[in-house]
Amino acid sequence: MLGSTLRGVMGVLALACAASALAGHPPMPFESPWQHLGVATCAGSNCHGSQRPFDDSPVMQNEYFTWERNDAHSNAFKLLQGADGKRIADNLGIKDATKAEECLVCHTDYVAPAQRGRRYAMSEGVACEACHGGAQDWLGPHVSGNSHQQNLDAGLYPLEDPVARTRLCLQCHLGTGDKPIDHRIMGAGHPPLEFEVGAFTLYQPEHFRVDADYLERKPAHVSGARLWAIGQIVAAQLYLEELRSPRFKDHGLFPELVFFDCNACHHPMRPPRWSTGTGGALDAGEPRLMDAYLVMSGAVLTVLTPDASGRWQDGLRGLQQASRESVGKIQERAAALSGLAEQSLQQVGSQMIDKAQTIALMQQVARLGAGPRAADYTSAKQIYYAIDSLLADLKRQHGVGKDALNAEMDLLFTAFDPSRPFDPAALRKTLQQISQRVTTL
Ligand code: HEC
Ligand code: HEC
Ligand code: HEC
Ligand code: HEC
Repeated sequence: MLGSTLRGVMGVLALACAASALAGHPPMPFESPWQHLGVATCAGSNCHGSQRPFDDSPVMQNEYFTWERNDAHSNAFKLLQGADGKRIADNLGIKDATKAEECLVCHTDYVAPAQRGRRYAMSEGVACEACHGGAQDWLGPHVSGNSHQQNLDAGLYPLEDPVARTRLCLQCHLGTGDKPIDHRIMGAGHPPLEFEVGAFTLYQPEHFRVDADYLERKPAHVSGARLWAIGQIVAAQLYLEELRSPRFKDHGLFPELVFFDCNACHHPMRPPRWSTGTGGALDAGEPRLMDAYLVMSGAVLTVLTPDASGRWQDGLRGLQQASRESVGKIQERAAALSGLAEQSLQQVGSQMIDKAQTIALMQQVARLGAGPRAADYTSAKQIYYAIDSLLADLKRQHGVGKDALNAEMDLLFTAFDPSRPFDPAALRKTLQQISQRVTTL
């Protein structure tokens, strides 16, 4: 069920570009018509394959080695060859995961044959052009005086833009119609996908420097609390879009379970653990939609656009309760929430966020987890990412000492250690402490 964009005919590609442009989004690297030339093309020692960062260059120039040695993305194809990849493939009746489109779409820079340049190789995994866009037309010009806008016009993907970046990462880190993942693949042993653009940008080994020169070239760049806040709403939007697509609905007796909260169904039954995971929207025994991005967006709106917050909470409640009625009703409610998300994104995107607001955001998410949401593992994990991102911003931008809340962060981190049972009560206690201490930062 891959999107038509991957089917490779140029006419279809042109249409896909038009569709993306109409929706107001630049075409994704895998959608646009330019050829992908392969990592070897980027990795020359005078280009991005220097052993050490250059001091006197606008970019680091050792990006290739950072990616190759430290970045998980260079390992993405190898995962398909390893024991876990083989086991998942076996369980699905796939003979060879390294040849299966349903794995390759996310584990490589997967483009249509017409877009594969001479040195393109799928075995490189999630390579430079999977994020930066096919270099066919910008390769030469980007080192000979092109402006950033000219590079963008030639197919460079605008990763500095927080909306464009989040939408791209989530293609693989959430799954979409173009890069689908479903409960069948999860059931075969694939790890659940979780993502937060601020934290994951920090976790990706640093291969770019945001300095004065960078900001002059790329004024649209956003980081810290703003990146987190915008990223949550974009993730909520993409989830709602997918919820409205045939992926969710066309499934016989049950809708596609990957849209529901894994832990609503999968958790030990002893000791009994249910405690109003949706804050009362649903009763015990009702499976809940995976609403972590929607809940986090609610926290963003409560602090930054309080006028929209009540409507959002009502909409979210309505969405959860629609699962008592029908798939059609869920999709109807998702459409209404999508409209609200778009308005909120405009408002939140145009705001700066100061230190007091960053603290208020952190307190808001910590409070959520200090209440019933601690029992909802998926939201609790998002709360962890939120606090990690926001705290990093307070330390980098707002003069908060580098050791502040480190002990609490360690406790939070161990709460998600997969080798121990998940303990909502302990988590709640730590989040209570954080919500109190954060106001003293
Ligand atoms: C929607 C995109 C997507 C699809 C489709 C997908 N994967 Fe993944 N896969 C990911 C991401 C993202 C991760 C990393 C998760 C993380 O660490 O956050 C991952 C992780 C893995 C891992 C590491 C497992 C572990 O426990 O660390 C294996 C193995 C794997 N995938 C195999 C497969 C196979 C085999 C298929 C095809 C049947 C497949 N994947 C399809 C996105 C995808
Ligand atoms: C998973 C996505 C991803 C992959 C893979 C990736 N990058 Fe990046 N790269 C980014 C993001 C995000 C940024 C920061 C936003 C921006 O400036 O475009 C960035 C920034 C850069 C910059 C800095 C640009 C500037 O204006 O200062 C360079 C150079 C770069 N990447 C080169 C590479 C090279 C070379 C590779 C492959 C070896 C690569 N990247 C792989 C996501 C990626
Ligand atoms: C084409 C698919 C694809 C895209 C686009 C993509 N990723 Fe990934 N990402 C993966 C896969 C697959 C893995 C797992 C690789 C592994 O574990 O070796 C991964 C792993 C990661 C990890 C390591 C996670 C962990 O648990 O160790 C981080 C961090 C990450 N990605 C960040 C990003 C960010 C930020 C973006 C957007 C700028 C992005 N990714 C875009 C496919 C993708
Ligand atoms: C509505 C309930 C429900 C939701 C939500 C759900 N699952 Fe499942 N899952 C099931 C059922 C039912 C089975 C089949 C169990 C069996 O074979 O007896 C299953 C099987 C599995 C299996 C196979 C191993 C096992 O425990 O039987 C895995 C792994 C799995 N699911 C992971 C996930 C992940 C990851 C998510 C979230 C993305 C998820 N599930 C969401 C109900 C659910």
